[in-house]
Amino acid sequence: MLTLTSEEQSLLNGAEGPGVQRAMEIVAALGRIYGADELVPVKHVQISGVSYKNLGDAGVEFLNEWAEEGAVVRVPTTLNPAGMELEKWEAMGFSPDFAQPQLSAISAFVRMGVTPTMSCTPYLFPDFAPQRGNALAWAESSAVVWANSVVGASTNREGGPSALAAAIVGRTARYGYHLAETRLATHVVEIKCPVPDIADFGALSYIVGKAVGDGVPYFPDLGAWLPPLPDDITEGGEAGDKLKTLGAGIAAYGAIALYHIAGVTPEAIDQGERLIRPNARRLTVESLDAGYRVMDANPDTVAIDLVTIGCPHASLSELRRVADVLQGESLRTRLWVTTSQITRERAAREGLVEIIETAGGEVVADTCAVVAPVRSIGIKRMATNAGKMACYAPMHSGVEMRFGNLEQCLRAAVTGEWRAIPA
Ligand code: F3S
Repeated sequence: MLTLTSEEQSLLNGAEGPGVQRAMEIVAALGRIYGADELVPVKHVQISGVSYKNLGDAGVEFLNEWAEEGAVVRVPTTLNPAGMELEKWEAMGFSPDFAQPQLSAISAFVRMGVTPTMSCTPYLFPDFAPQRGNALAWAESSAVVWANSVVGASTNREGGPSALAAAIVGRTARYGYHLAETRLATHVVEIKCPVPDIADFGALSYIVGKAVGDGVPYFPDLGAWLPPLPDDITEGGEAGDKLKTLGAGIAAYGAIALYHIAGVTPEAIDQGERLIRPNARRLTVESLDAGYRVMDANPDTVAIDLVTIGCPHASLSELRRVADVLQGESLRTRLWVTTSQITRERAAREGLVEIIETAGGEVVADTCAVVAPVRSIGIKRMATNAGKMACYAPMHSGVEMRFGNLEQCLRAAVTGEWRAIPA
């Protein structure tokens, strides 16, 4: 049974006004539904469902109403991508009919004290990166996997309103991934095929996501395909970029919120096979073909309107790789490298943005090709190296999709056409 402290009870009774009361009602209701016995303070909140494409007019109205009620967040709180780049939406071709309500939603968040980072990778922000053991309330499914698995923090897969409610009261209900028992592995997944490339981690994410559903996979041997994580994890690095792709894909194709990799992720380093439930199921992945077949969904599509890299938002190390390939090139089709404003600033200081833009690409902040209304700017055929983008863009943006590795995607941007990799 959920027990509230006297302070929590007074928030629930409306001591701090209707906005805070509404937030406490949501947090307490979730606690009762999921059988929590208490609330826990959270260190950081990440809110999703920020795009007007998802919110609609009702969502924008709801946010403004909550802000009018005087609700303000109590802990550092950041935002997922919006439906457009805030400062360049006109130049990118988005209409004022979309932009005005989008800006109204962002302004409501800002009035409530939320930092408008508009990125799905809060873990790459030097100021917000979580620490092991932190309780969080994160609503971006790909970031949830990172926080639980790579960092060893704890968060459930919050919804947009429940995350905002947690930010306003500074607490979340203690259930699910906040409990040690839920963090034990339900499946042991052995990898018997090579996974050298980031795109391979995307293809793997389809196979594991479908097989494991909402369970917790333990990978005894995947660490063989991962170099050590960099000292500064906010740069991404090869290992970070692979894990970012894997986490996003398993959360999209399944509903996975946590995985363990022997010798790599913190809980697996400490506890090893003690993390595996006695009744865990065992699976073996012999080939990535099924993943590539599903993600490369339109094999007859050759002409490409938009190549998109950066799902989840590109890290500094991904921007370095893109700039390296595009140095001196001239693109025939549109390229978006989607990232956060913070990472774009870091990349600009290294001259990477200039190289990509001189080639004709765009380093786009605040948004991505899933939450932006890309059909409205004429995009019908896309290419990507990211598993989650390959999963969601056809569904949410109604586009045809080609999927391959970074080099193949960038070659499509240079030539305007998707070509098979020579054997
Ligand atoms: Fe981020 Fe958009 Fe992918 S929100 S995880 S870049 S679908």
